[in-house]
Amino acid sequence: MEKRGSWGSNFGFLMAAIGSAVGLGNLWGFPYKLGANGGFAFLVIYLVLVASVGFIVIIAELAIGRRSGKTPVGAYTKFNKKFIFNGWLGVLAAFVILSFYSVLGGWSFKYLITYGLEIFGAGFNGLSSSAFFTNFTSDPVQVIGFTALFFIVCAVIVIFGVEKGIEKSSKIMMPALFVLLLVVIVRSVTLPGASAGLEFMFKPNFNFLTDGSFFKVIGAALAQMFFSLSLGMGAMMAYGSYLNKKSNIEKNAFIIPLCDTIIAILAGLAIMPAVFAFGIEPTAGPSLLFIVLTEVFTSMGAVGPFFGFAFYLLVVFAAITSGISLLEVTTSYFVDEKKMARKKSTIIAVIATFALSIFAALSFSSLSWVQLPILNGGLIFVDIFTFLDYVGEYLFMIVGTFFICIAVGWATPGGINAVIEEVEMGGVVFKTKKVWSFMIKFVTPILIFTIFLMTIIGIIGV
Ligand code: TRP
Repeated sequence: MEKRGSWGSNFGFLMAAIGSAVGLGNLWGFPYKLGANGGFAFLVIYLVLVASVGFIVIIAELAIGRRSGKTPVGAYTKFNKKFIFNGWLGVLAAFVILSFYSVLGGWSFKYLITYGLEIFGAGFNGLSSSAFFTNFTSDPVQVIGFTALFFIVCAVIVIFGVEKGIEKSSKIMMPALFVLLLVVIVRSVTLPGASAGLEFMFKPNFNFLTDGSFFKVIGAALAQMFFSLSLGMGAMMAYGSYLNKKSNIEKNAFIIPLCDTIIAILAGLAIMPAVFAFGIEPTAGPSLLFIVLTEVFTSMGAVGPFFGFAFYLLVVFAAITSGISLLEVTTSYFVDEKKMARKKSTIIAVIATFALSIFAALSFSSLSWVQLPILNGGLIFVDIFTFLDYVGEYLFMIVGTFFICIAVGWATPGGINAVIEEVEMGGVVFKTKKVWSFMIKFVTPILIFTIFLMTIIGIIGV
C-alpha cells in the first residue's frame, strides 16, 4: 500500500486550503453580491456569518479529518458510523461541483489563451465580447476540449500527491494570484470614474432593514459563504487529514476565512471600479467574468490585452487550486477506502467527473432544451448547468454542514470533547473553546436550518 500523504509545512497547508476556498466564487459572486445587497451592511452580515458558521465548522472539519487521518467517508466511519452518509454526500458534492466548475475552468483557459493571442492582435478578431462568448460556449467541441484541458492540469497535480503536487503548486499559484490581483487593482482604481465602483461596493445601505429584503440579504450572504469557504462537503476534512499533529487548528481556521474574505474584497476592488469606469452594468455569475470584463479590457485600448492576460491567469490559478481540492475529495475516497493507488484513483475520479461535465458543458448548446426541477421558492425548472450548481453548491453543502453540527454537537457521545481534544493536541490552547462548543451545538445548526427552510419556501432566493 502507498504511504498516505501529508503536508510539508503549515504554510503549504494554508496555501492549499486558502487556494481551495479562493475560487471563482470570490471573483464573480462576492463583489456583485456585496454591491447589490447593501454594500458595507452586507459585509458586516457576511463577517458575522463567517465567524458564527464558517470559523466554527472549519474547526470541526479540520479536527475530524486530522483525528481520523482519513478523508470524509473514512473520517465519519471513525467519528460516528451513523454519519457515514454525510461523508458520501461530501464525495457526491465534490463530484457534482467539479462537473460544472471544470466547465468554467475550461472557459478561463480559453480566455487566457485568447488574451495571449490578442497581445499579437489575433485573439478576438474584432468580435464583440458577447458574440465571442456565445460563439465559444455554443461550440461543443471547443467547450468540451477546454474542459478536458482543465481536468488534465488538475489530474497531473493531484497525481503528484499532497506535498509534491497540491502543496507545491499552491505555494506558487496563490502568491502569484495575490500579486496579479494587486496589479489589476492598481490599474482599475486609477481609471477615471472608478470611484462609482467603490461606491457601489462599499456605500452602506441599510434599506434592507426596512424594505422587506432582510432575509433575502442574509440568505445571499450565507449561500455565498458556504460556497466560498468550501464548507460542509469534506474538502477541509480531507485537507485536515494530512495535517501535522502539532499545527494549530484554531489558528488555521481563523486564517483561512480571513484570507478568503480579504481576497474576495480585493477581487471587488479589481473588478468593480473598472466596470463602472467604462459605464457597464455590473452583474453576477459567468457573465461578469466572461462578458462584462472582456468589454472592460477592450475599452482599455492598447494595454487591454496585457491586463486581460494577467486577469485570466489569476482566474485560471483560482480555478485550479479549487479544482484540485475538489478532485482530491473524490480521489482520496478511492485511495483511503478502496486502497487503490493514487494515480489509478485520480484517473477514475477524473473520468467519472468528466463524463458528467459533458452534460454541464452541453447545457449551453445542444442540450439547452433539457429542463430539470429545483426547489427555490417553489418548484422551478432550470438547465443542466444551473441544476448541478444548485444541487452541489446549495443543497449538498448546506445539508452537509448541518449534519456536521449535529454529528459533533448532538449525536456522538463525547463528540464535542473529541474535537476539543484534537484541537488541543500537543499543548495548543483552544482560545474560543467555550464559545465554539456553544455555537456548534446551538447557534450554527439553528441558523443554517432556518435559512435553508426559508429558501425552500421562497422567503429567500438563491
Ligand atoms: N470555494 C470555491 C470558490 O469559491 C468553490 C468550492 C466550493 C470548492 N466547494 C468546494 C472548492 C470544495 C474546493 C472544494 O470558488
